[in-house]
Amino acid sequence: MKVRTIFQELFSLSLLLSLTFSSSQLLPDSGNSSSALDATLQNYAFKAFYKPRTGVPYDAKLPKNLTGVKVSALRLRSGSLRTRGVQSYKEFQIPTGVIELPYVERLVLVYQNLGNWSDIFYHLPSYTYLTPVLGLLAYSGANLSGSDLPELDIRASDKPILIKFSNVKSAPYGSVAKCVYFDLHGSVQFDYLLPGNVCSTFQQGHFSIVVESIALSPEPAPSPQPIAALVKEVGGHKKSKVWKIVVSVIGVCIFLIILSLLAARVRRINKSMRIQQLEWAADSNEALDMRSIGGTKAPLAMGTRTRPALENDYIP
Ligand SMILES: *[C@@H]1O[C@H](CO)[C@@H](O)[C@H](O)[C@H]1NC(C)=O
Ligand SMILES: *[C@@H]1O[C@H](CO)[C@@H](O)[C@H](O)[C@H]1NC(C)=O
Ligand SMILES: *[C@@H]1O[C@H](CO)[C@@H](O)[C@H](O)[C@H]1NC(C)=O
Ligand SMILES: *[C@@H]1O[C@H](CO)[C@@H](O)[C@H](O)[C@H]1NC(C)=O
Repeated sequence: MKVRTIFQELFSLSLLLSLTFSSSQLLPDSGNSSSALDATLQNYAFKAFYKPRTGVPYDAKLPKNLTGVKVSALRLRSGSLRTRGVQSYKEFQIPTGVIELPYVERLVLVYQNLGNWSDIFYHLPSYTYLTPVLGLLAYSGANLSGSDLPELDIRASDKPILIKFSNVKSAPYGSVAKCVYFDLHGSVQFDYLLPGNVCSTFQQGHFSIVVESIALSPEPAPSPQPIAALVKEVGGHKKSKVWKIVVSVIGVCIFLIILSLLAARVRRINKSMRIQQLEWAADSNEALDMRSIGGTKAPLAMGTRTRPALENDYIP
């Protein structure tokens, strides 16, 4: 083990730490652009209504620069939502007992399927989407030409709203698929995935199924693994864990330094022992006579322990 390589490792580790810290500061405030998208999609969704019937979902037309996104709108009486729920609205199953705040007589549930735009508007560092991000947002249905409306707050009471995802990519071997939930203020929560690719929620927001991207890369080499783990932790907003990692990394560094000092010491002891051996050998050689054999001088012992072999015993 060379001291220089240890210092190179230390340097790369500290570089890595500074990198991960800057990336934790750069974690995007995704609430911003995604809330702008919500407002845009609300406008397009409401334009889908033409002499709308309540309880019937209408698909909206979107501009070319949003190709891949799907939006629908469903207008309901609030009493009907509370007492009957909605058996199926695209992937969403809305149970009885859902109420909105503040109270409105009619409300509009806007459905979003962000398709291949999911990762752009809801980028989750170190996670991979197995299915597009779906949104369910509630607005007042009082003025269907209203734009930039604020969302209502809807809450399920006893039973949760279920989201039954279809077309879910299978999770890579050894990784665990999780439900992810984004509320309207940009905070992220993870939850267990229920059998049948179902997620549940008591609130409105955006939903999808993810796996940690680390599991997707084919068997990482042993040395980059702690790097990946470190980045993963920072990406997962687990800042308290970062400190544990920092402490353990520092511990490892100290251990490496001690190890290298020990190694250097052992090498020095070895060296001095070898010198002693040489000196000892030189001392014992003093007794040997130096004789000329051919052109070279060589030490020669007076008595030889191995007797010269007889000629007839000699086998070439
Ligand atoms: C988005 O960010 C800009 C500047 O950072 C801020 O002025 C604006 O209010 C934000 N918009 C939303 C919807 O949060
Ligand atoms: C799409 O284009 C419209 C203009 O046609 C623009 O106002 C809007 O911001 C664009 N949206 C996106 C997401 O690029
Ligand atoms: C999504 O796919 C459509 C075509 O299906 C394409 O036009 C659009 O640019 C894609 N959007 C992104 C963000 O890749
Ligand atoms: C509905 O909203 C539009 C656009 O914001 C506004 O012009 C109109 O007056 C509103 N109608 C009612 C009945 O509030």
